[in-house]
Amino acid sequence: MKRMAVMTSGGDAPGMNAAIRAVVRTAIEHNVEVFGIRQAYTGLLNGDFEQLTSAEVSGILQRGGTILQTARCEEFRTELGQKKGLRRLNEKGIEALIVIGGNGSLTGALKLHELGVPVIGIPGSIDNDIYGTDMSIGVDSTLNIILDALDRLRDTATSHQRAFLIETMGRNCGYLALMSAILGGAEIVVTPERPKTVEEVANALEDAYLRGKSHAIAVIAEGSPVKTIEFVDYLNNQKAVGFEVRLTILGHIQRGGSPSAFDRLLATRMGVHAVNMLLAGESGMMTAMQGRKIEALTLEEAVSQLRPMNEAYFDMQRFLSR
Ligand code: ADP
Ligand code: F6P
Repeated sequence: MKRMAVMTSGGDAPGMNAAIRAVVRTAIEHNVEVFGIRQAYTGLLNGDFEQLTSAEVSGILQRGGTILQTARCEEFRTELGQKKGLRRLNEKGIEALIVIGGNGSLTGALKLHELGVPVIGIPGSIDNDIYGTDMSIGVDSTLNIILDALDRLRDTATSHQRAFLIETMGRNCGYLALMSAILGGAEIVVTPERPKTVEEVANALEDAYLRGKSHAIAVIAEGSPVKTIEFVDYLNNQKAVGFEVRLTILGHIQRGGSPSAFDRLLATRMGVHAVNMLLAGESGMMTAMQGRKIEALTLEEAVSQLRPMNEAYFDMQRFLSR
């Protein structure tokens, strides 16, 4: 193999740059040229490629976001779009591709594999909803950002004897909300997997008040069926729980900033592994962290379902918050 390409796609995640760097330098070590595709599948369809030398990935290991940028591309969802993508790769003499991204991006990668392009996916998404891997790139950094925010909010909540509703990201998955609720000592957590009614949340906050707590925190995943604003409305207009109530939506702050040591290591290991798999002639696979090892499963299996939540954590959150 003489030439491969790499792209980052879907929501950016801290550690994507560390993965790009590992891909580029591992390939160069094996005398393979690497092209970066800018803006994901949009850039693929536009032929927006640039060669990445070792110098070009210098100084990016610790940077958040992605130097290749990312995008969401509707055209690539169509068969015609996918064939155009294959044509662009052929025009540039690119023999293999590494896609770093979430479920949607990895589904796109599977389509290219089915068209005959050697492809390896790397799971990169803050949501930790990708099946088959214990952790995706970006999750640990995001959890640390959420915990930092939660700790700060608890300080001010305690000082004023207030309850805070804190909304985390997680489009279809409550992993970030649940883990930050456990690790940040929240009173209650609301997720798409275990939704809660406005009454249940109000009761949990009131219970904390009646037991003499100086603050109460509810963490709500953005993808929950009852929207955060409905909880706020209910608490402000229909049920007094003792505490004054405030709302903080953490939003895209959760996706920015320097990757944690864990994410740098995960991204580096997966980047090296992905190139080695391509060099060994493998395709249609996704790198995965299973236990302490970097393994692989088929892209087909990886995108076939969302990563299930560990049910034991829900129970742990409930009794540890008492
Ligand atoms: P993520 O990768 O973070 O889950 P998206 O679901 O938005 O993000 O997907 C990112 C991009 O992947 C989409 O904009 C699209 O270009 C591509 N994609 C998603 N689903 C498919 C699909 N079924 N077939 C082909 N490409 C897809
Ligand atoms: O999938 C990652 C994610 O950050 C989700 O948690 C969130 O719902 C979504 O992306 C936000 O997407 P956008 O950047 O398009 O607002």
